[in-house]
Amino acid sequence: MNLDDPVLFSELDPGGMLRRIGELPQQCRAAWELTQGLDLPVSYSAIKHVVLLGMGGSAIGGALLQGLVNGECRLPITVVRGYSLPAFVQGPDYLVIGCSYSGNTEETLSSFGQGLARGVLPVAITTGGKLAALAQERDAPVVHFEYQAQPRAALGYSFILLLGLLHQLDLLRDYAADVEEAIQVMEAWQAEIGPQAPSAHNAAKLLAERLSGQLPVIYGAGFLAAVANRWKTQINENSKHWAFFEILPELNHNAVVGFSIPQAVRDQTHVIMLRSNLDHPRVQMRWDVTRELLVCEEVAAEEFLGRGESRLAHMLSLIHFGDYVSFYLAMLNDADPTPVESIAFLKRRLADRGAIG
Ligand code: F6R
Repeated sequence: MNLDDPVLFSELDPGGMLRRIGELPQQCRAAWELTQGLDLPVSYSAIKHVVLLGMGGSAIGGALLQGLVNGECRLPITVVRGYSLPAFVQGPDYLVIGCSYSGNTEETLSSFGQGLARGVLPVAITTGGKLAALAQERDAPVVHFEYQAQPRAALGYSFILLLGLLHQLDLLRDYAADVEEAIQVMEAWQAEIGPQAPSAHNAAKLLAERLSGQLPVIYGAGFLAAVANRWKTQINENSKHWAFFEILPELNHNAVVGFSIPQAVRDQTHVIMLRSNLDHPRVQMRWDVTRELLVCEEVAAEEFLGRGESRLAHMLSLIHFGDYVSFYLAMLNDADPTPVESIAFLKRRLADRGAIG
């Protein structure tokens, strides 16, 4: 497979995943602008806890937001990926934001419905579906966006809409400058890693080639932990390829002990360390020592640094890079990056067994 052949790309990518990956910077800008005109009830600014609901490509925005604002937002943020809300989520002190691209994901509908029954302050972020209908029935605000794509390819919306929404409620500072910086950093990097940049100098194409036939294990720390999660899911869904992620420093207390066995797994594992010069100083030391251990056990490992100044730029630049890697790996796997047949199969099989009660 020649990763410099645009004809092959268009044959293997009829759904246009590559174009959507390239649109991430514009998506972020459009999402931020969309939140600027939001008119939300004043009572919403008095909440004491934020709860973000979603699954898969619609959950990752919440996880990224949680990582980004952890050190500066004084309100607790909980991410729920499942059917049930924690018991403590009760009443109007809780802002519960249901995030679902389709608006029809049963876990998100279930936990959102529970929130409504418990009198929380609800918001829906969606393109429509049952979630929008459920919110509208209760006169709850709906942040409606339109972007024709697989949910995971609408990350600019699912992440930046949350950031803008919480800023509009005065729960977060104004991230406008960070969003703009991140967009510029992504656009600049795109020139180096996009499809037009030849393999010989294209770090994303070269990494995809090294990952071909290997088991990618992605490491991230702190605000980049959810970015490692995003890489893993993009490699699963776009490249149709096994991948896992681990979080530093936690992995220093367990995973490091199991680097060598089974030997066949060790020989096929390729660790990717997503680093930032904004990582905690002790975490920076841990990265170096972790790498020493990997080298010592002969596990293939390499690191990539987030670009730009702000945490948001570091996150989005590494996400953009990882999205391209997942696309090129799909090409090497001879896989159409868009459809996710197994997810659709699961949703159909569950629906065959009846609606959730
Ligand atoms: C598909 C994808 C999935 C979906 C998930 C939830 O591209 O990424 O992980 O995001 O099945 O569906 P939505 O996003 O419609 O709530």
